Amino acid sequence: MWAAVEREAARLVPIQLRELFGADPARAERLTFRLDDLTVDLSKEKWDQGVLDALLGLARAADVEGQRARLFAGEPVNLTEHRAVLHMALRGGAEPPAGDDVQGTLDRFLAYAENVRGRGITDVVNIGIGGSDLGPAMVAQALSPDIDGPRLHFVSNVDGAHLADTVKGLNPETTLVIVASKTFTTLETMANARAAREWLGGRGEMAAVSTNLEGCAEFGIPGERVFGFWDWVGGRYSVWSSIGLPVAIGIGAAKFREFLAGAAAMDAHFRDAPLAESLPVLLALAGIWRRNAMGWPTVALIPYDQRLARFPAYVQQLDMESNGKQVTREGEAVPTATGPVIWGEPGTNAQHSFFQLLHQGTDVVPVDFIAAATPRDADAGHHMLLMANMLAQGQALAFGKPAAEVRDEMAAKGASSAEIERLVPHRTFPGDRPSTTILFRRLDPFSLGRLIALFEHKVFVQGAIWGVNSYDQWGVELGKVLAVRLIPVLKGEGEAQLDASTAALAARIGELQE
Ligand code: F6P
Repeated sequence: MWAAVEREAARLVPIQLRELFGADPARAERLTFRLDDLTVDLSKEKWDQGVLDALLGLARAADVEGQRARLFAGEPVNLTEHRAVLHMALRGGAEPPAGDDVQGTLDRFLAYAENVRGRGITDVVNIGIGGSDLGPAMVAQALSPDIDGPRLHFVSNVDGAHLADTVKGLNPETTLVIVASKTFTTLETMANARAAREWLGGRGEMAAVSTNLEGCAEFGIPGERVFGFWDWVGGRYSVWSSIGLPVAIGIGAAKFREFLAGAAAMDAHFRDAPLAESLPVLLALAGIWRRNAMGWPTVALIPYDQRLARFPAYVQQLDMESNGKQVTREGEAVPTATGPVIWGEPGTNAQHSFFQLLHQGTDVVPVDFIAAATPRDADAGHHMLLMANMLAQGQALAFGKPAAEVRDEMAAKGASSAEIERLVPHRTFPGDRPSTTILFRRLDPFSLGRLIALFEHKVFVQGAIWGVNSYDQWGVELGKVLAVRLIPVLKGEGEAQLDASTAALAARIGELQE
């Protein structure tokens, strides 16, 4: 089936987006897909129905539907760790494994969240990293208009400056520290947890969220303030579990349930919609087309929403830790390129930093724009400017500005023909640069839950087509082991077999500390 996609690529390469729109007046309508207010415009991708049909053939050949059924049925699709992948069960979007009390655990941590909201705790400091940080930190910022509980803070980096700067000015008496770690062994989190315990000095309160209940007990956190989850919840898929505790404290139990309901709505859509109408499948296919057929290695994810500032970082972990793989589930070399580099910053700021390269650089960088049509509390005039800018960027990328237009414009302003010819190459925009626009009514707990689940399922579909295991992350292990071996070297307590560069750098760090 890849051959059909490659044939389509050869057909599409010479056709400009401008021509694709010119040839089909119904293109925008045909290539825009909806689930209620959630709208995904895929018409500015450099593809057409023929391409989409070939990609749908690829999805069928990869048995995406069968793989999806096995995922929802709780089969151990994470083959290298012999685990099911059932984060959907945390939000009512799938059945949990028998015996795992998902509902009871949810009720318990939401009851604790309500309790914390009602008794003079002014600040909550969440200590965690990766999935135990990015999810709740991103969601807390995204839903800031919904936060009516204690102030929320997030400490992740093992750099002591992060904790020190965060607790500066906080009162330990009225602070709750949550240690969030699936394993309760992560070096960064344990170092920060010990330092935070010291800072509290027996005042305030500590709670823990983990699958390692023994580890929490050993650390000294009483069982009534320990909230568990299960090994079938991957770290980067865990914001729906008790890892969401700081969010629940901030927005309250009822709104946290709305957040879960939004994700469950996407689960139902993904489980039931035909491939050709499924938003996660269509987004995944656009990504496969960009990456494998067009050969574009990165994606810029640009939310036109200041409160989604951390969304690119969140999706970086979700996507790159899931699909940054070089072998298939069977351990063979993957025959195609896999997960792209995801990067991004909110618009309009990004326009004034790196968009120059997106418009006129030598690489094509596909862009995913994300926006809510209605602001929560910002003034409507600002929001109109924000939306105008987002639409303008999509237009400029797709349709560019041809040399003839530059000439006419300069001539109308009275420029000499020599000056016009000198500047035309600089002022021309090539266009033909793709983007997808994801729009919804308003950023609230429900729509945010639905948006995150959309990306989760997109990642699943791409992993299914590439044939990789999207649910392990062995690639982060080596660095952890090497860091532990370097600790005695940096302390001056031991020798290690080091390469010349690392040995010299370790020595130089020592010299510079004297
Ligand atoms: O290093 C990667 C990772 O294992 C992520 O997958 C995970 O989200 C993060 O570390 C934190 O792990 P834990 O929640 O066990 O502290």
